[in-house]
Amino acid sequence: MKRNKLTYFIETFGCQMNERDSETIGGLLEQEGFVQAQDVLDADVVVVNTCAVRQAAEEKVWSRLGQLVYESGRRGNVPVIVLAGCMAQLPGTVERIKQRAPYVKLAVGPGHIHRIPELVYRVLEECSAKPVTAVSPSRTEARRTESTQMLPEGLPRVKVPGVSAYVAIMYGCDNFCSYCIVPFTRGPQVSREPEFIIREIQELVDQGYIEITLLGQNVNAYGHDLDRGPGFAGLLERIDGIPGIRRIRYLTSHPRDFTEDMVDVISQSRHVCEHFHLPLQSGSNRILKLMNRGYTREQYRDLVYYIKDRIPGAAVTTDIIVGFPGETEEDFRDTLDLIQELRLDGAFMFVFSPRKGTAAARMDNQIPRKQKSDRLQALVEVQNEITRAINKSLIGTVQEVLIEGPDSRNPEYYRGRARTNKLVVCTTKGPKPGDLVKVRVAEAGTWYLRGPEAEHPKGHI
Ligand code: SAH
Ligand code: SF4
Ligand code: F3S
Repeated sequence: MKRNKLTYFIETFGCQMNERDSETIGGLLEQEGFVQAQDVLDADVVVVNTCAVRQAAEEKVWSRLGQLVYESGRRGNVPVIVLAGCMAQLPGTVERIKQRAPYVKLAVGPGHIHRIPELVYRVLEECSAKPVTAVSPSRTEARRTESTQMLPEGLPRVKVPGVSAYVAIMYGCDNFCSYCIVPFTRGPQVSREPEFIIREIQELVDQGYIEITLLGQNVNAYGHDLDRGPGFAGLLERIDGIPGIRRIRYLTSHPRDFTEDMVDVISQSRHVCEHFHLPLQSGSNRILKLMNRGYTREQYRDLVYYIKDRIPGAAVTTDIIVGFPGETEEDFRDTLDLIQELRLDGAFMFVFSPRKGTAAARMDNQIPRKQKSDRLQALVEVQNEITRAINKSLIGTVQEVLIEGPDSRNPEYYRGRARTNKLVVCTTKGPKPGDLVKVRVAEAGTWYLRGPEAEHPKGHI
């Protein structure tokens, strides 16, 4: 049964994988005749695609849900609210929905998003008091195959505006870093068959996307779960050869699985960008071990030096968690020292957030909140100074920039990303979104590079 002209709206929290999933949810709803609402308050169905990686991410969702109901209630038009994504997959969420957000009618884990249209119809018909749920068996209770969350191939996706598109190359994660909830919310690692990946990328390139970002929780382990076919290095080589592709990025890497062979393939490729996001998490070997990361600070350092040696000008960025249980001043010093030594281009820095069900949440010696935030502040200061100095050292260089759109601060200028993923504002008028232009850096700050077009006054590469 189809009901036409129902409207939908999707709000997405969390990582790129969720953004990619939201495109699929939109595509599926549109296939069923739903139309995207201009405003969330006009929608008949609101999907909130959620993240559970830190407590703050969950709190954001709960307060957004409350606000949605309040605002739509004032208009006399409360939509069907769907809680999708990683929070839905957590044990206990249905109970929490009953307590904190009884107006949520449907909870759908990441492995079941393709069922959203059918489930929405069910909710519309049943009007039951209890939320309808579709989640995978939890990993601790089920065998691997039962808790996998691979989506069927060939699902529709809405066409997102812009010049870059995401392609999931794998689902789930098998690493069980001791602080992390993702292996529980996303299930075991399952790689997509390379043929499906290549076909999807070719279609996106044919539609005009310039840049493709490959997604997975640990892309360097791509293919480890397949009987045959390429690993990550081989996959990159094949993607690099897709006719028409201009830029390739990938997220996220795991330093333990990033082999020299992969660095070599990247150094020889034409389109894989010179940006390495390598989450370090901690510079202390003792903490790295407790985190179950599988590498030492020395191995991490060797990898960074190998990359810098093979690919001069490559940018390396990282993620760091401070205040992991039992982290001493000395452990934290180790992190600061390594950060000062390596001089990475940038870092996302977090305070440890205990996630129920993970090993780290059960560990003794949880660090007090104040100490965690003091450490974060100290680290942020050190790293931001390094980022600023590196960016300033780029003044005078020429960067290839993929133009994305007008700069929000100076709408007469255009902004885009360098191959190193640095934000660049182009002060020459004329480029359009999708153009690859060369910019000579004249000015730099912690978060941007800025300058006029170089060399090709009109020409785009
Ligand atoms: N699979 C990716 C992304 C994981 S989530 C990866 O391995 O990098 C992104 C970042 O969030 C992680 O790199 C980590 O730095 C941070 N993070 C994950 N769990 C966290 C927690 N419980 N508390 C604080 N930060 C966390
Ligand atoms: Fe979490 Fe570690 Fe998997 Fe990343 S690699 S998603 S941090 S368990
Ligand atoms: Fe968050 Fe799930 Fe991504 S927990 S970071 S949305 S995989």
